[in-house]
Amino acid sequence: MADEKNQKASETNSKIKPFQTPKGVHDILPNDHEYYTFIKKVVRHRLRQAGFKRISTPIFEYTDVFARSIGDATDIVDKEMYTFKDKKGRSLTLKPEGTAGVVRAYIEHGMKQLPQPVELYYIEPHFRYDRPQKGRYRQFRQFGFEIIGELDAALDAQVIYIANKINEDLGIERLFDIQLNTIGSLEDRQKYMQALKDYYYGKERSLCEHCKDRLQKNPLRLLDCKNEDCMILVELAPRMTDYLSKDSLEYYQDVKEYLDELEIPYTENAKLVRGLDYYSNTVFEFWDAKNGAQNAIGGGGRYDGLVEKMGGQPTPAVGYAAGMERIIAHMKREKIRVPNKDTIHVFVAQLGKEAKKKCLKLIDEMREAGIRTVGALGKGSMKTQLGLADKFNAPYTLILGITEVREGTIIIRNMEKGSQEVVKFDQVIDEVINKIGEKNLDRYTPGELLY
Ligand code: HAM
Repeated sequence: MADEKNQKASETNSKIKPFQTPKGVHDILPNDHEYYTFIKKVVRHRLRQAGFKRISTPIFEYTDVFARSIGDATDIVDKEMYTFKDKKGRSLTLKPEGTAGVVRAYIEHGMKQLPQPVELYYIEPHFRYDRPQKGRYRQFRQFGFEIIGELDAALDAQVIYIANKINEDLGIERLFDIQLNTIGSLEDRQKYMQALKDYYYGKERSLCEHCKDRLQKNPLRLLDCKNEDCMILVELAPRMTDYLSKDSLEYYQDVKEYLDELEIPYTENAKLVRGLDYYSNTVFEFWDAKNGAQNAIGGGGRYDGLVEKMGGQPTPAVGYAAGMERIIAHMKREKIRVPNKDTIHVFVAQLGKEAKKKCLKLIDEMREAGIRTVGALGKGSMKTQLGLADKFNAPYTLILGITEVREGTIIIRNMEKGSQEVVKFDQVIDEVINKIGEKNLDRYTPGELLY
């Protein structure tokens, strides 16, 4: 009867189609978490060293926070935002990037009263309804940092320097070219955009559909279109440099001098405009040295008008953000291994109820001593348990059977050599520490834990 029931249940189950993640999003499995953890550690370390403090803004904000900052005419606001209404009909959006929320928080919490500049960093998930492909996801993780409250070319250089330093720590800096440009002040840009509109007047028919639209909404974006016909027209289009004020040119010159001083190589790229509207003066991106703009790992720039545009007092700012999935893809391609603490030191195998009781206590004491320990507390045979120890890659297995319990001993098995020794149960923790080495212990001292 019971068998019949089980069979029916399993027939029904087999008809249920298992769930999968929605398109464009993915699980982070333990092997990948090693990379995320490592990147987070590097980012925290470098930014803490430079005096930055961590901030987290909500996963969703009022839609206007992004529409007003990133700009209505950008791809992000136009078609990539996850926007929904809450039960009171308010329009909310999952954050597609980090800067807008940080600026909203800077204003909301009166950070203008703090000593300036305020230096903040974040490591957060972001959401864009992008067309999923390699390096382009609908949920992705960014780390980013912002310096708000001071205008100086040395800070722009500093941001690029720290971004490059993080890449160095991750072992990937040589894979990227830093593309650098200035898009001038707001006034420079308005003059330039008018010049672009004048230039394209009468040439609209040769433009791709996107660029026809961009010409009306945001002519700057015509410069980085990848359509062949559009690229030909760009070649003869007016150059931004001809519309830059003396101040903007001097500012750009200063940024370059500071970068030279810091020995950071860069490539000047007059067509680099970035996909968000809030920038002014310096813009930069870290391009894949082999594949160019496709799959840039990070980008940023100065955004001196944004705080005011979001309702705060005029406040200059500069920042950067990088995509963690893309960084990890490069690290894997380069076969860069990351150090991790997920390996275990000891596996504990036992046989019989008395042995299990003693093991429960022993496992706890070993962990307290800093020995990463996994215990087979199920009902498996000794053979199954040793097989598990192998799967866990444990260098040592402790074996406690009925005989050992009776004699007050325990077996330490060296899994690599296959050799075994019997030691006194009371001394096993010291014996294990001797073998794995004091310096390799994983001690948990909450007071000393630095986040
Ligand atoms: P962004 O260039 O839009 O800049 O994004 C920065 C990085 O996020 C990109 O270079 C890329 O690595 C990653 N990223 C963007 N979209 C995706 C996606 N769909 N899938 C995977 N990775 C992606 C910003 O977000 C600005 N907030 C940067 C900034 C900070 N500017 C000033 N401060």
